Amino acid sequence: MADLNLGRSSFGNPAHADRVLSEAEALALLNEWVPNERLRLHMLQVGAVMKSWALEKEGLPVSEAHKWWLAGVLHDADWEKYPDQHCSRIIEELENRQVDPTIIRTIACHGPRHFGVEPETTMEKMIYVFDELSGFIHAAALIRPTQYEGMDVKSVLKKLKTPSFAAQVNREEIQDALSRIDFTLEEIIGFILTHQREVSDTC
Ligand SMILES: [Fe+2]
Ligand SMILES: [Fe+2]
Repeated sequence: MADLNLGRSSFGNPAHADRVLSEAEALALLNEWVPNERLRLHMLQVGAVMKSWALEKEGLPVSEAHKWWLAGVLHDADWEKYPDQHCSRIIEELENRQVDPTIIRTIACHGPRHFGVEPETTMEKMIYVFDELSGFIHAAALIRPTQYEGMDVKSVLKKLKTPSFAAQVNREEIQDALSRIDFTLEEIIGFILTHQREVSDTC
């Protein structure tokens, strides 16, 4: 497997604070870089959950929540076309576009064991918490006849304890991410269940 360590922990230019991509610009980038519909959906789901968390749990204004959304929506943008350069390609692209450094660093924090960047801010910690769990919950929803309808926290916990289900999802990484925040696994699963179903209908 390629070494994805980014070899740095500082990203973007502080002078570019508050410079963001618009929703249309971000979706255009997503569509251009990510032909795979399933992967696009994953990124849209992480974006939706990040934005909801910023608004509901952090009480942030819409302009700040948009940054959380951007980090979520773009975090795997280079995964399909440049898996050996994940996530340095998207980071370089956003640095070239002079995007707010907090968004870029959050993307760099979505897998500390791979990219070598430790999450420090709440935004950075939450993308790490949501990334694997969001994908896991969607995989669990897909095998249910009613998908998200009637799906509860308990059934997700049960699936997590079944190593053969979605075996590629690293349970240790989920625990590591959770150990950095003051919310329980149950609370995070409940939050994802409530907020990501809204995005699941569109694809
Ligand atoms: Fe990733
Ligand atoms: Fe991801």
